[in-house]
Amino acid sequence: MTDLRTVLGEAVGAAFAAEGVDAALARVTPSDRPDLADFQSNGALAAAKALKANPRELATRVAERLKGDDRLASVEVAGPGFINLKLADGALAQRAAEVAADHEHAGASLVAEPRKVVIDYAGPNVAKPMHVGHLRSSIIGESLKRLFRFRGDTVWGDAHFGDWGFQMGLLIVAVGDEGKGDGFMAEGDGPFPAESPVTLEDLERLYPAAAARAKEDTDFRDRARKATAELQAGRPGYRALWRHMHDVSMSGLQREFGALGVTFDLWNGESDADPLMPEMIAHLETTGLLVEDAGARVVHVARPGETRKRKLADGSVVEAASPPPLLVISSEGSAMYGTTDLATILDRRKAIGPDLILYVVDERQAEHFEQVFRAAYLAGYASEGALEHLGFGTMNGPDGKPFKTRAGGVLKLHDLITMATDNARERLREAKLGADLPEAEFDDIARKVAVAALKFADLSNSRTTSYVFDLDRFMSFEGKTGPYLLYQAVRIKSLLRRAAEQGATAGAVAVGEPAERDLALTLDAFSQATADAYDKRMPHLISEHAYRLAQSFSKFYAACPVLGAPDEATKGSRLTLSKAVLDQLERALDLLGIDTPERM
Ligand code: ARG
Repeated sequence: MTDLRTVLGEAVGAAFAAEGVDAALARVTPSDRPDLADFQSNGALAAAKALKANPRELATRVAERLKGDDRLASVEVAGPGFINLKLADGALAQRAAEVAADHEHAGASLVAEPRKVVIDYAGPNVAKPMHVGHLRSSIIGESLKRLFRFRGDTVWGDAHFGDWGFQMGLLIVAVGDEGKGDGFMAEGDGPFPAESPVTLEDLERLYPAAAARAKEDTDFRDRARKATAELQAGRPGYRALWRHMHDVSMSGLQREFGALGVTFDLWNGESDADPLMPEMIAHLETTGLLVEDAGARVVHVARPGETRKRKLADGSVVEAASPPPLLVISSEGSAMYGTTDLATILDRRKAIGPDLILYVVDERQAEHFEQVFRAAYLAGYASEGALEHLGFGTMNGPDGKPFKTRAGGVLKLHDLITMATDNARERLREAKLGADLPEAEFDDIARKVAVAALKFADLSNSRTTSYVFDLDRFMSFEGKTGPYLLYQAVRIKSLLRRAAEQGATAGAVAVGEPAERDLALTLDAFSQATADAYDKRMPHLISEHAYRLAQSFSKFYAACPVLGAPDEATKGSRLTLSKAVLDQLERALDLLGIDTPERM
């Protein structure tokens, strides 16, 4: 299904070609002057320069050729050689009808060649508290997963669970010291208790205490290091205890992410890459990539001459390789964060064979991914360009520092959702929304409004910028917010319910009023918005479209009575348009990971 901009681009391209001009110059864009035209092409300006011709004359000749196209109501040359295109109402109506009939994709085009894509997002860790980086990653990653799937790719969302680091050794020692590790601490082969000796609350309490203690108590830290190494080496009791902590933590996280409407196809952990380690090390050795460096083993990833000034611990400045070498095996013999990431690429290659892996991770990890990707390309684990780090900015508190819930404490997803839901309840009551609904439904609406507010606030900003957490603003029913969009969607649902009660039925689309034309053009633009969001990996382009659509509908609804339309044919057309808007709006919201209630 092709959008009007593309269709017109082809028509203008053909007219350019007929004038002996490269058709590729005939780019068509939405008009800067919607009062005069729907689309425009500035191609004659660039073409004239290349041909050393007069741009206005060239534009006039192209325009003459386009005048025979019955999809166009007018073709005019303006200024130095812009071509202004206004669509015939019939062509616009036909496209709107096409969008209305496309329940599956609401008029959006699909990718020409579907790919296999892994999206690595959220990246929570066993027991370690989450921070805003994990929250933003979850929201952005979930949206990209839905968008890629929507456009036709086969997608695996992977939580890439952090279950293999030093925190596991810390926990093992802490559980033992608390006397909860009975049955797991002996060196033998078991059997081991089938029940977890710790709850989620235990883990949440034990981890921060252990992490703090390790900072001061060297003996404790050494024991934790040793436990980490023994766990990774396969000590059975530690493995059994690890499995319990892993599972307890994972089911807690799944519940919390579920409440936020974030789900994963894979909960693979860093630990899952462990079995691939020997093979990977052997490969890196035989290819000569793994080299000794001051007792550690590294892969050099900078190309010759790629250096940067770096400050050393003693304050001196040296010219050093940039990016720095990837540390594969530390001088203590353990695998590092980058080692697991590299092995995970190998693992995914074997299990899935993806064409593309997207890593939705905090911008601060940019160098880490640069190192890992280069090592993977060198090792032949992925083809150049098949690995992409999608960094993002921070969600800050009013103090300009990364946002925290609870006075000075860490971010707890559960607290955040509760706080937002409480706020949503109040806002709904103030606005007298949902007042007569049963309590359970009201609660469900409040939860949906809360999630919409949080997600839309995040996804209405470009991924790469930072923004300030301001719950009152996010939660407003006015302006560019999630709740505003839900409210608009619900308003259309109620209009359609009333229409059904009156026995009114949707009919053939006709457009004529400026507000109807604008609505049809907006419906058409969804295809381009999803394609751009996909190409740039920028969900905010979908947020922008959703907002534009809601506003266009609002104007239409004010200017063009639907149930009170002057005749049955107009009523039928406006009902079809309303239904198409609802479908597309709900679809756009779904791509942002947002659910719409039936009423409020
Ligand atoms: N667990 C990591 C952290 O908390 C994030 C993981 C990101 N994904 C990855 N493949 N490294 O920082």
